[in-house]
Amino acid sequence: MFDFRPAPDTPKPEAYRQLLDAADALSAGEPDAVANMANIAALLWDFLPDLNWAGFYRVVDGELVLGPFIGRPACIRIPMGQGVCGVAAGKGATQLVEDVHAFPGHIACDAVTNSELVVPVKRAGKVIAVIDLDSPEKARFDKADAAGIEAVADMLAKRI
Ligand code: SME
Repeated sequence: MFDFRPAPDTPKPEAYRQLLDAADALSAGEPDAVANMANIAALLWDFLPDLNWAGFYRVVDGELVLGPFIGRPACIRIPMGQGVCGVAAGKGATQLVEDVHAFPGHIACDAVTNSELVVPVKRAGKVIAVIDLDSPEKARFDKADAAGIEAVADMLAKRI
């Protein structure tokens, strides 16, 4: 129904501007957090090449709980501070991991994952969720990807 994919060879900053616009358009005026996370997970999956997982973990009672995603079934609960997602949520800081096998405590939900980007979603300074992207490619994500996903996280903070 919708095709938001950027033209091939679009420079990353422009592609992420388009992604942010699409994420904004998809979630504007919709108060249901699950619906918004589901559509944004699908958008990230559609938009970004070379992913094997894209989705959300939410902070619930002090731990991370699996939210809407695209990919293989994943670990449901992650304690704060554990794995890439738990570190991102615990520190409130983006984790850009070129090689997950070199990340102490990485939680292998899918053995094909080699690199990962996890961005916290903060509302009023508090981490309420993380956006998690996994790739089978080593060093799939760079600072431009991190900045692009951080902009999406900021926009979504009041919509999930
Ligand atoms: N690899 C993550 C766990 C979540 S899955 O990748 C979907 C981590 O170490 O936190």
